[in-house]
Amino acid sequence: MRPRWTARNRRRNGPSRPRAGRLPGVIQYEGKLYRPPSEADSLILQATIGCSYNKCTFCAMYREKRFRVRPLEELTREIQWAARTMGPVRKVFLADGDALIAKSSFLEELLVRLRQAFPSLHRVSCYASPQALQVRKVEEMQRLRDAGLTLYYLGIESGHDEVLTRLEKGVDAQEMIRVAGKATEAGIKLSTMILLGAGNRALSSAHARASAEVVNAIQPRFVSTLVMTPVEGTPLFDSAERGEVDELSPLELARELREFVAGLELTGTVFRSNHASNYLALAGNLPRDKARILAALDQVLAHPGRAPFAPEWMRGL
Ligand SMILES: C[S@@+](CC[C@H](N)C(=O)[O-])C[C@H]1O[C@@H](n2cnc3c(N)ncnc32)[C@H](O)[C@@H]1O
Ligand code: SF4
Repeated sequence: MRPRWTARNRRRNGPSRPRAGRLPGVIQYEGKLYRPPSEADSLILQATIGCSYNKCTFCAMYREKRFRVRPLEELTREIQWAARTMGPVRKVFLADGDALIAKSSFLEELLVRLRQAFPSLHRVSCYASPQALQVRKVEEMQRLRDAGLTLYYLGIESGHDEVLTRLEKGVDAQEMIRVAGKATEAGIKLSTMILLGAGNRALSSAHARASAEVVNAIQPRFVSTLVMTPVEGTPLFDSAERGEVDELSPLELARELREFVAGLELTGTVFRSNHASNYLALAGNLPRDKARILAALDQVLAHPGRAPFAPEWMRGL
């Protein structure tokens, strides 16, 4: 049996979390910290604590935190300390789960202070939930983009309405497309996430196809797949304990991924399945590399015994 994703496993495996104490001194991170793999070399600043929504059935990341926006002066002290002690900072990632929900005026002032402190600053990014995108006006996002916040990470998770309802994502597929469109209209790059396995076995194929359709409608700059993993303390974990979740095998997930990639009609998107939750790490530029990625998946499906599936101990969130 494959191990469940317990807090202990996460501590051991969580490669996408900066190690505690990596930045000793003034930056005191509160609780566990999560960031996308592509922000590995970014300065991480907790502009907000927790997630203002915090209801998605699979997500344990901020359950123990009460949402709040941190005082600007506290953040300024951390920024000034980082400017004094770290080398040139080119990228900043604003944590925690949905920093974009903070008031636009607060974020704008924070961006001004970041630019003043870090002359080589090249990009600032954050997580943006569908709820934050519902709240933010296009003009606000444009102003924030002009101030340097140019990339949002958005968990689409699925394009299938029944799956989205089950995940309690809070929006259906049409609303996901609408709010993502607001960000695109504001000139923001979107890096989106799809949760493989979220449809269980019964909806695996429908989830893959519907997710590709939603991604096609959004045309994000980046799309990544993650493997849905039951984590202790979540409704998903409780359902899994009751035997109500069929966790797909690595081979079934590869089949689902193939169907998802086959459905993608993108004009300029970077695809990755390199998040630590995946069994197969694939990457490419779409549409250019679509045939190569499909061929790699066909090889896996034809010869599962030789497939380079990551062992459980290497996986994480
Ligand atoms: C820190 S969350 C922030 C996402 C953002 N708040 C949103 O809703 O758009 C980042 C992503 O991690 C992934 N994630 C969270 N919990 C997960 C789990 N248990 N298994 C797999 N992926 C998970 C989801 O794709 C989620 O969108
Ligand atoms: S997936 Fe995003 S919106 Fe949902 S609970 Fe996690 S951080 Fe919050």
